[in-house]
Amino acid sequence: MKRTKVKEVLQTPASGQEVLVKGWVRTKRGNKFVTFIAVNDGSTIHNIQVVADMTLFTDEALKEVTTGASVSVLGSLVQSQGKGQSVEIQARTIEVLGTADPETYPLQKKGHSLEFLREIAHLRPRTNTFGAVLRIRHAMAFAVHQYFNNKGFFYIHTPIITASDAEGAGEMFRVTTLDPVNPPKTETGEVDFSEDFFGKSTNLTVSGQLEGEVTAMALSEIYTFGPTFRAENSNTSRHLAEFWMIEPEMAFYELEDNMDLAEDFLKYLVRYALDNCMDDLQFLNDMYDKELLSRLNFVVENDFQRLTYTEAIDVLVGAKQKFEYKVEWGTDLQSEHERYLVEKHYKKPVILTNYPKDIKSFYMKLNDDGKTVRAMDVLFPGIGEIIGGSQREESYEKLVTRMREMGVPEKEMWWFLDTRRFGTVPHSGFGLGFERLLLFVTGMGNIRDVIPFPRFPKSAEF
Ligand code: 4AD
Ligand code: MG
Repeated sequence: MKRTKVKEVLQTPASGQEVLVKGWVRTKRGNKFVTFIAVNDGSTIHNIQVVADMTLFTDEALKEVTTGASVSVLGSLVQSQGKGQSVEIQARTIEVLGTADPETYPLQKKGHSLEFLREIAHLRPRTNTFGAVLRIRHAMAFAVHQYFNNKGFFYIHTPIITASDAEGAGEMFRVTTLDPVNPPKTETGEVDFSEDFFGKSTNLTVSGQLEGEVTAMALSEIYTFGPTFRAENSNTSRHLAEFWMIEPEMAFYELEDNMDLAEDFLKYLVRYALDNCMDDLQFLNDMYDKELLSRLNFVVENDFQRLTYTEAIDVLVGAKQKFEYKVEWGTDLQSEHERYLVEKHYKKPVILTNYPKDIKSFYMKLNDDGKTVRAMDVLFPGIGEIIGGSQREESYEKLVTRMREMGVPEKEMWWFLDTRRFGTVPHSGFGLGFERLLLFVTGMGNIRDVIPFPRFPKSAEF
């Protein structure tokens, strides 16, 4: 007989038909007449209730049916007496596939702290919370592809190992085949990369943008969606050393078009979650954050506030609130400033544009004022920066000038500069941090809880 997933079973009318269900035991309770076993197979947050009539089963036979054990249950689907569930399975046979010793299985019935669960990242998908998060994560990844596919964007796979530092921030993980302890040295005492696999210094990508720009100069509208690595301070609830980023890049887009796309994209994703993940969202809403659903609905229904960095500085300087970090024109905004704008002042998502050139990357288009660039950050409640993007500098001369000023190696970037030499066009793009999006959609408070196996300083156990 073919196995039916619990999600499907729960949608089937109780007709007495036979079903075969396989999954993991969440709880077992009952009395001498009847035993109730809650089984979950991950297809949905809901368990299926398996009812064992104790005139048919012995205690001995159900001894190994304990929390965490895997079971295969054959039985008939009947109307449930219990409230909150439509059907249950009247068991005919219950086979234990794998036991889970109650003495040592860490996920017993009681609630567990998220901190504790982080230490058992290999088992936490078996909890309601992580099941919900992982299903939502899947749905959001699917929605990303659906959104861009519907719009005629092409998915481009950019390299993980690269020789360039796309953000110019020097926050890279080195990749080398040389002995890290005793690398070969040149006569002048520098590391001799000629013996390295690539013959030069390489690193894990910090962004697929540059390769994305190159490809958009041929296919017009593309996006990347892949793992991204940053050796920056990841000891915060908003940073990971390895995160996933979605980076659309569009030829013939100016900053306004870029903002329109970013806003539409974010609303689409949140609406997709509301339309397709309600069971999981409802659980997270009830369990952790009673405002979650109303916050998601608000974002879908309201326009984002758009303003310039300079206007934002005026708001912040005039704010009654005392900030830990002082704000003045020219300084980068800290998360406390971003959150003030979003949560206290405008009370809605904010798109900030036209930042000072000195706090942004070399590739952003210079404004006529010579001081600001056509940057765009999208700020979200509870998160701060969720998207970073810009219109790109399409002029060869201006880009080279900017690279020289900022010490970006012009010679090694010849291929990038070629896009400006041959058929350059105005173009724009942005990067959405996938885990930042998930923080917002799930309402979870720590970015380590929205990725299955988080990478942060000293984390790599497996
Ligand atoms: O603002 P960032 O650094 O922009 C770029 O990398 C551009 N190349 C994007 C582009 O224009 N194509 O990063 C973009 C987004 C941030 O807004 C944030 O959501 C996320 O990536 N992000 C991180 N997420 C988790 N952990 C980290 N350490 C992150 N660093 C950035
Ligand atoms: Mg940024």
